[in-house]
Order: sequence, then structure tokens, then C-alpha cells
Amino acid sequence: MIRINENYLKLQASYLFADIARRVAAHQKAQPDRPVIRLGIGDVTRALPEACITAFHQAIDEMATDAGFRGYGPEQGYGFLREAIAQNDFRSRGAHIHADEIFVSDGAKCDTGNIQEIFDSASRIAIPDPVYPVYLDTNVMAGRTGKCRNGRYDGITYLDGNAQNGFIPELPEVPVDLIYLCFPNNPTGATITAQQLKVWVDYAAANRSIILYDAAYEAFIRDDGLPHSIYEIEGARQVAIEFRSFSKTAGFTGTRCAYTVVPKSLMAFTASGEPHSVHSLWSRRHSTKFNGVSYPVQRAAQAVYSDAGKRQVADLIDYYMTNADRIRRALQALGYPCIGGENSPYIWVSTGKDSWAFFDMLLQKAGVVCTPGAGFGTCGEGYIRISAFNSHENVATAMDRIRQALES
Ligand code: MLT
Repeated sequence: MIRINENYLKLQASYLFADIARRVAAHQKAQPDRPVIRLGIGDVTRALPEACITAFHQAIDEMATDAGFRGYGPEQGYGFLREAIAQNDFRSRGAHIHADEIFVSDGAKCDTGNIQEIFDSASRIAIPDPVYPVYLDTNVMAGRTGKCRNGRYDGITYLDGNAQNGFIPELPEVPVDLIYLCFPNNPTGATITAQQLKVWVDYAAANRSIILYDAAYEAFIRDDGLPHSIYEIEGARQVAIEFRSFSKTAGFTGTRCAYTVVPKSLMAFTASGEPHSVHSLWSRRHSTKFNGVSYPVQRAAQAVYSDAGKRQVADLIDYYMTNADRIRRALQALGYPCIGGENSPYIWVSTGKDSWAFFDMLLQKAGVVCTPGAGFGTCGEGYIRISAFNSHENVATAMDRIRQALES
């Protein structure tokens, strides 16, 4: 008798954004005359930068000739892209990352979800709350948790974020092996300083643990004093893996390109305490289970680092950050405390009400989709997340509709 992986039965019935999509579809069916404005899932709305499109077209033209055609590429990514990433995203900021420490992939969601596979199933896991749900769900699927009680799984060390700590969690009180951190944070938009990050790096070094650092939103950092990468922090090469994405940075949510950095100096241990290269494990996993991102997509991603690409990406981010500023101001003017939106495309709004009820109210009364904070963990209850990814016009209409809904 074939048996299922019963760990899946411990999960909530559906993935957060699938659940929201279902509710929105039902609402649209019931009220087809008023189009909803989507400020829920962080999905970009603007065209790819011109430099990326040009490179994309050129690469497709190359594929149209026998001489320029490419079949399977290197699983870890083409050298031209890995070198551009290492130079522009790391070395230019004083972080010592080499091209062969970069693994190009089709998404940070996949990488942050898959990385846990290379660690022992008994690893003790620390996960912030609230946070992007993929980290928790994939550990549940892997059997690292017990049952879920009152919104929390047995066996997970939750790192609480709240208004008192500014959504920067404190160090765990019990020893942990694998620590997920996400800055600028999804969903709260909170950012971490170099001094605060150093505390985590030192903790990981002292406890022989590893930090899984999700920096998918680093391009939205405006404050020059904030670190963009954990590798800007001394000692991080020995304790951290970093995840990045072109999705939000350059509008690649539908194009698919991301990367993970695994320094060669990063070690994890066998049961007998022998150090083993994490880079070699991830390389083995990647080459067995992944066949690389397509050549045209990697050429399009490389173009992000051209002079024109850099300017166009900066414009794209400025566009969304103008939305973020307007959303934050509008909600604050209505008397709702907010964080985020200054170095992040997400605005985290304290509603003081049940977050799914607030989500439903905004959907019904304003026709605006947000994300209920409780979907990111129990500490998200009472909050909603509003995304800045939409047009200026739609954001202006959404803020008008929200104002009317909340004042009625
Ligand atoms: C989000 O809205 O949190 C993200 O867009 C989801 C994702 O990147 O998978």
C-alpha cells in the first residue's frame, strides 16, 4: 500500500496566497462590475527594463542559429551571470563573494524552500513570526515539526516580532541549528542594521548554526547605512547562506531568475562532528535536481548589471517606492500605525482588528486586496500587509476607496 507523506496533513489546508486568490475569485464572481485592485501578493506590474528585453531578444536570436544555439547549460548558471552578480551585488559593496559561490536558479521561493533538504532532519529550526510562510511550510513537509496547536507547530523555535522590538526578533533562548532571517522583511518591511546583524552572525558562529538570509528585497533599501547583504558583516562567510531574486528587483516574477550564495568557507557537521562543505552539498543537490535557468533569461538577468540596466532598474524601484510612500502616508493619515514602506515595497499596517476580517472588509467594501497579517504567523494577527506593486493610478484609486470604506 502506497502511503502519503503524512507531514503534509499537518499543514494548513492551502498556501496563503492560494487561499487569498480563491477568496478574491469568489468576490469577483459575486461582484463582476467593480474590478478589484490587487495590493496583496507581491507581484510586479511594470514591464521588464528595456536593457533586459534587448538582451532577451538577442539571446533568442542566437538560439535561432545552429552556431548560437545552446542546449543544457551549467546547472549552477552561466559564468557571465555569476561573475556579474559577484562583482555588482557583492564585491562592489566590500563583500568577498566569488562567482563560483553563486547558484543561479528559477526563484528564491524554490531555493528557500529546498535548502533545508541538505540539513539533518533533526536540526533545530528558528523561524521569525511573522514571516514569509515558505520557510515554515517546507520544514513541516520535511517532518521537522510536530502538530500545529493554536497556530504554532511543536518543535519550531519562533522568533517573535512585534511593535515593541520593531519586528527585529531577539536571539533564541534555546539553542538552534538553522535560523531563517529575512531583511528587508517580508511581510513587515522592517530592516536590520549592521550592528544588529552582527549579533546574529556572532550567535551562529558561537553555536555552530547556519543563518539562511533571505535578501530578496535588498534593492528597495534606500537608507545608505543599512547592509544589503549579510556578507557585509564580518564572519558571515562562515555562517550564512543568502538568497536573492531578480523578481522584485527587475520585474522577473514571470520571467524567473534568482540566485543563492553558498560560500565555500561554510561548514556543517556530521553526527561525529566532522566538518563538511555546505557548498559541495548544495552543488550536488542542485546538479541532481535542477537543470538550470534558460539561456535567454540569464542573458536578460545579466543586463540588469549593464549601465542602462542599472538606471532602468533604479527607475523601476523608484516607481514602486513612490507607491509605498503614498500608501504609508494614506494609512497613517487615517490613523493606522504603519511600519515598512521606507526601505521595502511592503507596508505593515496595525489595524487593531482580526486581520482576516479586515482583509474581507477591504475586499468587500473597497474592492482592494491586501494580505492578512495572520497569514504570516500568529504575531501577524491584528495587521495587514499592503504591497506597493501596482500602477500609480491604481494605488491612488485604492487609497481613495480604502479611505471611503474606513470612514463610512
Ligand atoms: C509575497 O507576496 O510575499 C511574495 O510575492 C510571494 C513570493 O515571492 O513568493
